[in-house]
Amino acid sequence: MTMINTPARPRPAAVTAEGLTKSYGDKAVLDGIDLHIPQGTVFALLGPNGAGKTTTVQILSTLIPASAGRVRVAGHDLVREAGAVRAAIGVTGQFSAVDNLLDARENLLLMADLHHLDRREGRRRASELLARFELTEAAARPVATFSGGMRRKLDLAMTLVGRPRLIFLDEPTTGLDPRSRRTMWEIIRGLVADDGVTVFLTTQYLEEADQLADRIALLDHGTLVAEGTADELKRQIPGGHLRLRLPGPPELAAAAALFPSAARDDDALTLDIPGDGGIPALRAVLDTLDRASVRAEALTVHTPGLDEVFLTLTGRSPQAGATVDSSRENAR
Ligand SMILES: Nc1ncnc2c1ncn2[C@@H]1O[C@H](COP(=O)(O)OP(=O)(O)OP(=O)(O)O)[C@@H](O)[C@H]1O
Ligand SMILES: [Mg+2]
Repeated sequence: MTMINTPARPRPAAVTAEGLTKSYGDKAVLDGIDLHIPQGTVFALLGPNGAGKTTTVQILSTLIPASAGRVRVAGHDLVREAGAVRAAIGVTGQFSAVDNLLDARENLLLMADLHHLDRREGRRRASELLARFELTEAAARPVATFSGGMRRKLDLAMTLVGRPRLIFLDEPTTGLDPRSRRTMWEIIRGLVADDGVTVFLTTQYLEEADQLADRIALLDHGTLVAEGTADELKRQIPGGHLRLRLPGPPELAAAAALFPSAARDDDALTLDIPGDGGIPALRAVLDTLDRASVRAEALTVHTPGLDEVFLTLTGRSPQAGATVDSSRENAR
């Protein structure tokens, strides 16, 4: 028998898109976006209201047609093999698809019917998912009585009935309280780690993308303004700093003289010294202040977050969508 050495193959792609475009009339909602998502990874599409997140999910899941672009999903051409794409994916939309008049188990059994599971297999799958999502006790309650978090979990459970290899989650945690959000994060992590599925999620929460995603793309007005791991995106912007707050203008002037590379803010009486939050950096700053007998009121460590990535790349904060006052930015 001959042994053949094959080089390690890169993971096959779950989604690839080139020049994906969507227009309504002469308004381009998606302006030629490119995507490459390897199987078994979590991809987060991050963007403010109206950026085009839901539109992207709807196109990739065959719900609406693209205006232009070449797209492959789960190994199939999105247009020519739409049926095969649909068979491989699951979609949890931005707005709940559960039937309020049915109870939780009935909703799951309905999905099992849609996926042509036989009755016994359908019941087994429903019970398994109710247990996994900790909804067993509420299984016989009408969904109308569910909280937002329970409803969101049931929504995702329904998506999983057909065992999709690729799941689209459009804002899975919007409107959930911090605890329910964490539960949902655990569930999503489990899907990837235990079942090896690929997750494409959209979110307006930077922390969520940071927590869950292997790769993050920032969508703004239908254009991808940045793409990378959370760390790569953080590296694209000015690094962290240590912020000193001084008691008054004389102290600020004295401190500024000690740290020539720092940025001072005369209104806020602060001095931003480039550096990380490690103990040696902190000690060096405090020692320098001590030696010169300059008293500071506070020292805080500032690590760049994805918020700043967004701000730097688009000039707007993702939540507010407001334009940054550039005169103030320049003054820093
Ligand atoms: N059927 C349509 N006709 C015209 N414009 C549309 C249509 N559907 C969506 N749009 C526009 O496309 C843009 C993107 O909408 P989309 O729903 O994809 O945004 P989103 O990123 O999902 O926002 P949100 O965070 O609010 O859910 C918006 O300006 C929206 O008004
Ligand atoms: Mg949306």
